[in-house]
Amino acid sequence: MKQILYWIYGLTLLALLAACGSAVQTPAPASAPASEQAATPAQATTSEQAAAAQQSGSSESSAASSEHVEMPLPPALADTSLSAKGDANRGQAIFASSCAGCHSTATNVLLGPGLAGLFSVNGPTLPDGVDYQGMLPNGKERSEANVAEWIRTGGSGSIGSMPPMPLSDEQIADLLAYLRTLE
Ligand code: HEC
Repeated sequence: MKQILYWIYGLTLLALLAACGSAVQTPAPASAPASEQAATPAQATTSEQAAAAQQSGSSESSAASSEHVEMPLPPALADTSLSAKGDANRGQAIFASSCAGCHSTATNVLLGPGLAGLFSVNGPTLPDGVDYQGMLPNGKERSEANVAEWIRTGGSGSIGSMPPMPLSDEQIADLLAYLRTLE
């Protein structure tokens, strides 16, 4: 069984080499066999490498590449000094009573935008035509301190107006801890 596989592998490699050889020859038939000889070992290595890469488990390489896609958060977003003191469960209750009437925890717009991804690199999903260039509607960076300020003072932008929400430091910490969980 293994031998048959080796044969198929060998024949495929030969067919590939033949194809590469003729591809090299076609555009420049005048160039002597020397160029063909030079091209052949190089082609062989690359096709062997490709075959080896295919064999070495595609799941492994795709897992590795998805890890690399993850970008580190910029400093403003990575600073968790306010939410670290909070409790996400209490924050969820505050959200339900103070925010959920206008904001979903997903990406759909109610009165305001859905707050999923608020602390991600790209920020929350905004309606078509609205682009705050990764900032809050007031043009400030999406740091915890600026989000806290936005919540307390409210403000308006291209989508609508948000009323000021007077919350204590503890409530803000809890709320931020909860907002951090919305991905
Ligand atoms: C009466 C409706 C209303 C309530 C209640 C409300 N918001 Fe908003 N919020 C809005 C609107 C409308 C906007 C969009 C402003 C714009 O961009 O035009 C907004 C925007 C925001 C943004 C900025 C999103 C962005 O674009 O990055 C955050 C963060 C936010 N709200 C958080 C909260 C939180 C947390 C609460 C609860 C404490 C809350 N809001 C309560 C209406 C509301």
